[in-house]
This record gives sequence, C-alpha cells and structure tokens, in this order.
Amino acid sequence: MRILITGGCGFIGSHLAEYLLERGERVEVLDDLSSGSLKNVFGIKKHPNFSCVIGSVLDYQLSEKIVRRNDFIFHLAAAVGVKMVIEDPIKSIKINVGGTENILELASRFKKKVLLTSTSEVYGKNEKIPFSENSDSLFGSTKIRRWNYACTKLLDEFMSFAYFQEKKLPVIVVRLFNTIGPRQTGEYGMVVPRFIRQALGGKPITVYGDGKQVRCFTYVTDVVEAMISLTKEPAAFGDIFNVGNPTTAITINELAKVIKKLTKSKSKIIHISYQKAYQQGFADMERRVPDIGKIQKQIDFFPKINLKEALPRIIEYHKNIISS
Ligand SMILES: NC(=O)c1ccc[n+]([C@@H]2O[C@H](COP(=O)([O-])OP(=O)(O)OC[C@H]3O[C@@H](n4cnc5c(N)ncnc54)[C@H](O)[C@@H]3O)[C@@H](O)[C@H]2O)c1
Repeated sequence: MRILITGGCGFIGSHLAEYLLERGERVEVLDDLSSGSLKNVFGIKKHPNFSCVIGSVLDYQLSEKIVRRNDFIFHLAAAVGVKMVIEDPIKSIKINVGGTENILELASRFKKKVLLTSTSEVYGKNEKIPFSENSDSLFGSTKIRRWNYACTKLLDEFMSFAYFQEKKLPVIVVRLFNTIGPRQTGEYGMVVPRFIRQALGGKPITVYGDGKQVRCFTYVTDVVEAMISLTKEPAAFGDIFNVGNPTTAITINELAKVIKKLTKSKSKIIHISYQKAYQQGFADMERRVPDIGKIQKQIDFFPKINLKEALPRIIEYHKNIISS
C-alpha cells in the first residue's frame, strides 16, 4: 500500500513512517519542516520505499498531486504545542483548519482513506475524568488564545465526520493524550523534553503554575501501533478513539522530581506563573486522564511502555543529541 504521512518529519510522524516501512509499506511524507526536521527521518531517508516532499498541506496543487498517488493518508501536519499556538495564532488556525480541509476534500475526491490526529485538548476544561469519547468539550473565552488549538482540532473532527456522512469518506479520528518519546522537542512547550533538557543542562526545571496538574503520558510506539491497528478495522471508520495511557497519571511536580532524579541533576525545581511563561492568553486544565475502553474493545489496545521505562529512554536520547 502507498501511504502518505502529512507532518511525517515531525515527532510522531517519523516514528509512524519507520513502523510502516518495517511492515513493507511504501511511505511518502509531506512536511514543511515548520516544527519537524529532516534529522527525524535521517535513518530512513535512503530506504527504497521512502520519499519525502518538502511543502505545505496549505498548498492545494501540491497536496492534490501527492494525495492522488497514495492510498491512505495519516494526517498529522498541524501547528502543535501550546507555546506555538499562543505565539502565532493566525498561522496555527490556518494550518489546522485550512490544511485539514484540503486533505479531507482531496481524499474524498480521489477516494482515499484518512486517519486524522486530534487531541485530548478537545475536552478542554471538562473536569469529569476519565474522559470518554462522549464527554463534553468545555472551553473558555475566545479571547484566551490557549483554546485556539482545541477549537481548531474540534473543527477538524466536525469536518471529518461531515465528510464521512455526506461524502462517504472513510476517516478515523484519534484523540492523542500527551505523547512522549525520542525526537519530541521542548521548543514548543512540551513538558517532558523541556524538563529533561533543563535538568541535563543544569538549568532550573521550570514548572508552570502550581504543578498539581495531572497528566498521563503515552509512549510514542504505543500510539503508533494503536493508529496502525485501527486502520485495519473497517468498523473504526467514521468513529473517534482516545489513545492514551491512563496508568501513567502523574502530577507535573512529581514529573519534575522524577526527571531530576533520573538525570542525577543538581537543577533546582522552580515554579513560574502561567502569565510569566506565556505572557497572555493561557488557561490550564487540572487533570487529563483518558478512558480507553472504546479503543480496547476495537483493537485490544494495551499500552506497553510505562513512565519508568519511557523516561530513561528519552533521557538517553537527549544525552546522545547533546554530546553529538
Ligand atoms: N505530541 C503530542 O502529545 C500530541 C498530542 C495530541 C495530538 N497530537 C497531534 O499529533 C500530530 C503530530 O504531532 P507531533 O507531536 O508529532 O508534532 P510535530 O510538531 O513534531 O509534528 C507536526 C509536523 O507537521 C509539520 N507541519 C506543520 N505545518 C505543516 C504544513 N502546513 N504542511 C506540512 N507539514 C506541516 C511540522 O513540520 C511537523 O513535522 C499533530 O496533529 C498533533 O496535533 C500530538
């Protein structure tokens, strides 16, 4: 099968590309390198079944050519990360809405299948955990930039299901919960790589807010395996699935302590207010825990890698990058 991964030079996309190549698929990537990097696909760039086009999903003509020659599209290209969305809201909205519209429209025209990556952020301020796919989305004011990302991804979901219902486009939506692993960068606000780099660099480990926020972290290979398995299930099309690891729930304060210990760092753990960290437009959600009952029924999904295994692997990755 010929598979297109939009955003395939990014963190999750590059792992997905490796997995698919290992399974004998032909993989083409479309990425504008805005937050991804060619370094992420360095290990596969010479693979005979791999090709990479540098360009944007906002470029309709280019996307048209590429979508047409593939059978399945994993649509991952997006403006990602709280920091990026807060600092560059217009660009983020354009990519997340306009880019997805292009991909869904072209996939429908050329009769391709799609998997779209949405996010646990769509549950917003809802406090009733764990979140199931039927839980309500609850957002704050449109003046708070933080909600941009969640709303654009929610609109992507609405668009996906509109295409599924009206045009019979076979599309699956996955809501990813804090995915972590090698190649994720802390540059756009992701907490695990940010803490690890601070700890390894002997700089203060900066916890935003009071640090009592609870998050569940899913290792990237578990996420990739779940996404690929879902695409093999005809019943998964036209539906949404949480992809997360509820067993890894941890407060951000605790996460900072664990990373400090594992890196044997002398860094201080300090707290910074959200206003100072993001200047404006920020609101956080206290607890984010997935209910994964639905995906477990569909594909027998059991995340294999817990935080105890994941963090040392990621720390090792960052140590190698720093020393190379
Ligand atoms: N990492 C997480 O914890 C997480 C959680 C929820 C959802 N997601 C979703 O998963 C997907 C992948 O995220 P990631 O963590 O790998 O982030 P990432 O930033 O590493 O990957 C996104 C990729 O998309 C590319 N891109 C951005 N705009 C583009 C455009 N206009 N045209 C083509 N390529 C473009 C970037 O260069 C990058 O390579 C995203 O859709 C994101 O919303 C990720």
